[in-house]
Amino acid sequence: MVFQPDKPANLLRVLMLGEVYSKAGRKAVADHLPRLRREYRIDLVIANGESAAGGQGLTGGTAQELLKNGIDVITSGNRIFDQREMVEWLRTNPDSPVLRPLNYPAGTPGKASFQFNSALGTVEILNLNGRVYFNEMDSPFRVADQWLEQRRQAGITWPVVVDFHAEATSEKVVLGWYLDGRVSAVLGTHTRTPTADARVLPGGTAHVSDVGMVGPFHSVAGLEIESALKPFVSHYSVRPRSNKRPAGLVVFNSILLDIEPLTGKSAAVTRLDLMLDDNSK
Ligand SMILES: [Fe+2]
Repeated sequence: MVFQPDKPANLLRVLMLGEVYSKAGRKAVADHLPRLRREYRIDLVIANGESAAGGQGLTGGTAQELLKNGIDVITSGNRIFDQREMVEWLRTNPDSPVLRPLNYPAGTPGKASFQFNSALGTVEILNLNGRVYFNEMDSPFRVADQWLEQRRQAGITWPVVVDFHAEATSEKVVLGWYLDGRVSAVLGTHTRTPTADARVLPGGTAHVSDVGMVGPFHSVAGLEIESALKPFVSHYSVRPRSNKRPAGLVVFNSILLDIEPLTGKSAAVTRLDLMLDDNSK
């Protein structure tokens, strides 16, 4: 089905933002998300927040800022504990809608799913991490199977949107097909580079390999250009720095998704990509 800008009344509309990167990304959320929520009549906003704190992880303060400015659920990935305070923050805020991947080792603080109550019923958000280049994780395929089986046994049928935080496009596409017909959407994050493959698979699962980023245009996927360039033109390794500039053009990559609340199937999916002037509202 083609995505309709005017939301059909019976469908649950989700906006998923790519990684909100540093202050530039957080400011774009504060300045533009309220208008987009109204314009597209969005029921649920999800954002990957693992680079929201200066491009390196998330803090309690930056999480609360994003939640205050219109994001309902924050997902993450391999960088969730880059800021060490998140270990304790997730432990002491168990009810917060801030997630870390399900396939982390047992005993890791935080939770991997959140049940959001929208005007059209409950929708659950699940966070998984890929294993290609992150092979200390459990298999996202096996833990997803176990998680879905527990839901089935509990008689839970509400829609599920998965943030699959992974490096390899192949792994992200394969998980989409693997979960087709079992969840509403598998939306990829981590590369901070949007892909043009958003589609609804035959079983009703929407898929995109990578949502992208909400962050500085003058960057290499958020990193400062000069420091990202150095390893490629020299023989010494340099740790690239995050682009923390608050001003300038901002890339706003996101996915709009319409879900049938009763069946959990996605009716339509499309990209919503904007280039914003940091000073505009
Ligand atoms: Fe990541």
